[in-house]
Amino acid sequence: MTEKQILNPADGIAWMEGDFIPLSEAKIGVGDWGLVRSDATYDVVSVWDGAFFRLEDHLDRFAASMKALRMSVPQSRDDMRQILIDCVRRSGLRTSYVAMVCLRGTPVRPTRLPSACENKFIAYARPWVWVFPEPVIQRGAHLIIPKSIRIPPESVDPTVKNYHWGDMTYGLFEAEDAGADNALLADADGYICEGPGFNVFAIINDTVVTPNRGALEGITRRTVLELCQTLNLPSEIRPISIEEFKQADEAFACTTAGGIMPIRRLDDRIYGNDAPGPVTLKIKNLFWDWHARPDLRLEVTYDD
Ligand SMILES: Cc1ncc(COP(=O)(O)O)c(C=O)c1O
Repeated sequence: MTEKQILNPADGIAWMEGDFIPLSEAKIGVGDWGLVRSDATYDVVSVWDGAFFRLEDHLDRFAASMKALRMSVPQSRDDMRQILIDCVRRSGLRTSYVAMVCLRGTPVRPTRLPSACENKFIAYARPWVWVFPEPVIQRGAHLIIPKSIRIPPESVDPTVKNYHWGDMTYGLFEAEDAGADNALLADADGYICEGPGFNVFAIINDTVVTPNRGALEGITRRTVLELCQTLNLPSEIRPISIEEFKQADEAFACTTAGGIMPIRRLDDRIYGNDAPGPVTLKIKNLFWDWHARPDLRLEVTYDD
């Protein structure tokens, strides 16, 4: 299919099995283990103001996730990069949520062995998604600690980006029922992990602290740690209990599709003035400024 045949490319463009197609037409078979076993990995990179942000870091993490799941596809890293760029270029989107996905696929012979599956690479660029709605980011989010605990890392490695979202989905329902904005999951020992699609930080005794366990090693989390160095803010990666997180002076969530997202309440705990904290806002402002850094950007060359 040529790009001229795609009527509304700004609704999203996908790449599947060698073709660029409208995102709405990108479908997988009901037998794909990506569907029936949640046996897939993926990564999401942002395009902001016509440029990818930290694309090479996302490609690194995607390659590591595929390796951990013993997946391989014919596309090389250079192929994948080019496909992602082409999805964005063809969509014309200057601000886009761009995903790369690897599905386990289906077995090529009659067996239930995962090693017999033909793995599949898919990519797409779609209009931007905010993980927390913009007004929530402005006022600060109200999160709850749900009853559902984060899947233990020994069962599903959270550093391999995955679709095992049962724990997160229960948490989201509980947050919705409680009238809160979102959920922040802890582990069975009462230590803070992460939320549905985001890492978290707490500011404790002037130190910016993030959990060392039960969470994806987010690229935004890494950016925050680098921002702290630039801002001369001490930072730490270590266990944080629910109680300690609640006693913090400030807290925020962070993710590719949302940036720095202030937290103003956690259960009954109200941080500061029930509004985004000053250190959080400093980090948030510099985070967006860094999107102009040439060493972190990859400009997309559009057709128009
Ligand atoms: C479970 C989970 N944790 C954390 C994050 C944040 O990671 P990143 O900053 O790389 O987007 C995501 C992103 O989607 C996620 O799904």
